[in-house]
Amino acid sequence: MINDIKIFDTTLRDGEQAPGCSMNLKEKIEVAKCLERLKVDIIEAGFAISSPGDFESVKTVAETVKDCTVASLSRSVQKDIDAAYNAVKGAVDPRIHVFLATSPLHMEYKLKMTEDQVIENAAAAVKYARSLCSNIEFSCEDATRSDYDFMVKVVNAVVANGATTINLPDTVGYTTPDEMRNLISYVQSHIDNPEDVIFSVHCHNDLGMATANSLGGVLGGARQIECTINGLGERAGNTSLEEVVMAMRTRPDIFASQPRIDTTQISKASKTVYNIIGQSAPLNKPIVGKNAFAHEAGIHQHGVLANKATYEIMTPESVGITANNLVLGKHSGKHAFETRLKELGYELSKEELLACFEEFKVICDKKKTVNDSDLEAIVNHSVIKDEEGGYKLNWFSVNTSNFTTATCTINLEKNGKNYEAVCLGDGPLDAAFGAINKIAKPGEHTFADFSIFSISEGKDTIGDATIKLTNENKTYTGHGLSTDVIESSIVAYIQSVNKLIKQREEAAN
Ligand code: KIV
Ligand code: ZN
Repeated sequence: MINDIKIFDTTLRDGEQAPGCSMNLKEKIEVAKCLERLKVDIIEAGFAISSPGDFESVKTVAETVKDCTVASLSRSVQKDIDAAYNAVKGAVDPRIHVFLATSPLHMEYKLKMTEDQVIENAAAAVKYARSLCSNIEFSCEDATRSDYDFMVKVVNAVVANGATTINLPDTVGYTTPDEMRNLISYVQSHIDNPEDVIFSVHCHNDLGMATANSLGGVLGGARQIECTINGLGERAGNTSLEEVVMAMRTRPDIFASQPRIDTTQISKASKTVYNIIGQSAPLNKPIVGKNAFAHEAGIHQHGVLANKATYEIMTPESVGITANNLVLGKHSGKHAFETRLKELGYELSKEELLACFEEFKVICDKKKTVNDSDLEAIVNHSVIKDEEGGYKLNWFSVNTSNFTTATCTINLEKNGKNYEAVCLGDGPLDAAFGAINKIAKPGEHTFADFSIFSISEGKDTIGDATIKLTNENKTYTGHGLSTDVIESSIVAYIQSVNKLIKQREEAAN
């Protein structure tokens, strides 16, 4: 097997650009660590010029990650390129990713540039980027709606000026697998020095074909695939990393060249990202959905029992899904807890382990057995735990019925001080959230989303509550875990309010 297909993950850039998917710095670092464990080749950590927060997170990822190239996106203008370079220069292998649109539509209506101006601008931008950094990617935005011979001219110009990777994106999710294959092979075979560059595909999923189109590109000669965990991304998303990688692993007869990804990390990376953005996988989502490996129909079960290969083209273990064993309980000690987490692939620092163990003990008081899904929820929850110095729940008391107005008294703590408030509401949660607002005064925001789902089966299951508040196009996601759904909702609300307050404080400084 030749491992020469590069996986370029853009969860932290194209993925994070999707509505409701914004992440804070701590969360981005957590995702970057997952990507490193997955062994992706390149992490696109953000678009450094777009905001000081983005610049900071690209810089921190660049300085944290050791085993991947770290890239920042940049328009074809000097100030973007400078920001991108300054953000990634601390990486072991920094990359600047410059882009400019090449389709007639984009050139006429968005850029208001002629073809010659686009060639000149792209060449100058790449030349400048290359004067700072030796690893330069250039993307012909909207390539699949661009003229092939014009793109050949653009690519010749940027390669002559130092581009080392050429990306031909399907920006609007318009192409088909055969067309993508032809596009890559046409441009590659018509440029002057194809051996000097790696060709890349970057597909969007508007027609549900992003994975198929990326694979078409690989068959046409692409050696880099741009993708995101869970297919996050603008509109209908980007190519899913898990789909494109597992398609290649499952069909080595078609794909002789393979990515170096450690596929056993896929399930964990998927859960971490879903948890951070406050979403869960659709049940039937390939590879990472709950039903992806479930065999309900009798005839399928019979076949699978006789020989797994009858209905299973890949194993759950190959993507890191372990059997849901009931393993721990009230009397399990820290050592057993740590050992099981290690078996599940979690390497936690001492402090993280302690925080998770405390949460585990609280849950054990209310729930007889704690299984692998519960443990994963506890770890994922601790990853995005409260902002330092934020409000914490001490206790609450609710009084509710279907014939009186609900009341909640709540007691929170912040920096060693206690705060108490009482509020009436339309139900216990409305009353509780009102009481929290009285104390924390989160200011203007929209209550954008609220969900609770059970982590496992049984009446004593843990309720995982997720609350999303939005303000000025940013999303503040909070999670709470408890066997009591009112408590998990309150904790989730406090966490999202803390994030909102922290963002306001940072913006004010
Ligand atoms: O979809 C796209 O064209 C992009 C480019 C900026 C690479 O995301
Ligand atoms: Zn894109």
